[in-house]
Amino acid sequence: VENVGILAMEIYIPSQYVAQEELEKFDGVDTGKYTIGLGQSKMGFCSDREDINSICMTALHRLIEKNNINLHDIGRLEVGTETIIDKSKSVKTFLMTLFAKEGATDIEGIDTTNACYGGTAALFNTINWVESSSWDGRKAIVVAGDIAVYGKGPARPTGGAGAVAMLIGPDAPLVFDCGVRASYMTHAYDFYKPDLASEFPYVDGKLSIQCYLNALDKCYNLFCDKMKKVNPDFKGLLSLDGMLFHSPYCKLVQKSLARVSFNDFLNCAEDEREKQFPGLSQFSKHQRSETYFDRELEKAFMAYSKDLFEEKTKPSLYIARNVGNMYTASLYGGLVSYLISKSPEQLIGKKFALFSYGSGLASTMYSVNICNDMSAGSKLEKLINSLHDNIAMLDKRINVEPQAFSDSMQIRTENYHTAPYEPSGSIDILFPGTYYLVKIDDQRRRTYDRK
Ligand code: ACO
Repeated sequence: VENVGILAMEIYIPSQYVAQEELEKFDGVDTGKYTIGLGQSKMGFCSDREDINSICMTALHRLIEKNNINLHDIGRLEVGTETIIDKSKSVKTFLMTLFAKEGATDIEGIDTTNACYGGTAALFNTINWVESSSWDGRKAIVVAGDIAVYGKGPARPTGGAGAVAMLIGPDAPLVFDCGVRASYMTHAYDFYKPDLASEFPYVDGKLSIQCYLNALDKCYNLFCDKMKKVNPDFKGLLSLDGMLFHSPYCKLVQKSLARVSFNDFLNCAEDEREKQFPGLSQFSKHQRSETYFDRELEKAFMAYSKDLFEEKTKPSLYIARNVGNMYTASLYGGLVSYLISKSPEQLIGKKFALFSYGSGLASTMYSVNICNDMSAGSKLEKLINSLHDNIAMLDKRINVEPQAFSDSMQIRTENYHTAPYEPSGSIDILFPGTYYLVKIDDQRRRTYDRK
């Protein structure tokens, strides 16, 4: 099989948001902390009407409808999520309700979990399946989704919610590069969810940023080494048209691109440095491991990479800025944002890298090529047009006051384990086609309906 990649995509964003500007006032923090300091403008959230099963189902059902997918043509369905509502039963099994009623039950795959990395792991499993001896010629679907909520405090404005569904198969317009995935995995307690009685994580904010940037250094350098083996002319960021990152909040992504430039600077032959990186030679002796919170260095490389950021990364942050962290779906929301920022003609032949990070920790940098041949061109056009419909929904959302958002969080918190339970969240405000929770019975079985 050739050109295995993404054939179609769909993103689901909840119909309500809270404005970060208003949240700053409500939380009593300095004006600009969330909007400028974190780089966020709006945060999407769900009431108790939605859960991980329903948001993944909403994205999946739309992907199937819009692309007229024959359910018997799907041989694998995988979910990546860290929003756990059951310690045994996977979200994938709930998604099977759609397939099973058509008698389509010969479908491999279950859920994968490790913080924000599960979507990428599910995607890699799926690509590997299509390229393997187990493949039976059918297509596959990957769903990455999460409801990211934090307890009251500094992490709360970095929440969000959403789900992305991707159709995977051969002869795709977005093709995964082979043999160059670069991973860094190790143990860290930066962000984790050991309290099974609570929906909220334990977070060591500063450590999580350090772990993220360290993982980026490791993955980026290994990725460059692997790329150079395939193409000796590969020059890091300069050879890439785009660089996409998992986005916990947009400011960290801008800092990450600056970090990539710092790596290019360190990797540059000393006699070339002054020419390529004018005025930065005072950082020649700086070590990666000692500079994660070096203000001066960060400022200098942020300034150096400003135009690179505008060109290669900023277009990928539209959804992240307007929805917030969607955990496993965050990087793939970045991909959607990047694709809709350009026309199919502008995208043909482009290459971009993606950095996936999940606390705990698991991370990978990999790359995608936009296929050059004409048949891929029309598929690409269809894919992008369909994403424009999704994005239009962002402007149709309801702006909810911080107090009502906080009340809604309180209801989620108090009822995380209540059974039987009937959600109180409004059905009227949901977008057409949204799945929602009708009730949880005394055996904790959940029933859903579709609007
Ligand atoms: N105007 C402009 N900027 C401001 C203002 C203001 N009035 N006030 C503060 N800022 C800036 C700060 O200088 C800081 O910028 P810097 O990072 O360049 O120093 C930024 O706003 C944030 O302020 P802090 O005081 O650092 O914020 P705090 O420590 O309270 O919380 C944090 C930030 C740690 C990111 C928190 O939101 C958190 O824990 N989030 C969840 C964890 C997370 O997302 N980690 C990232 C990787 S792991 C993952 O994906 C989950």
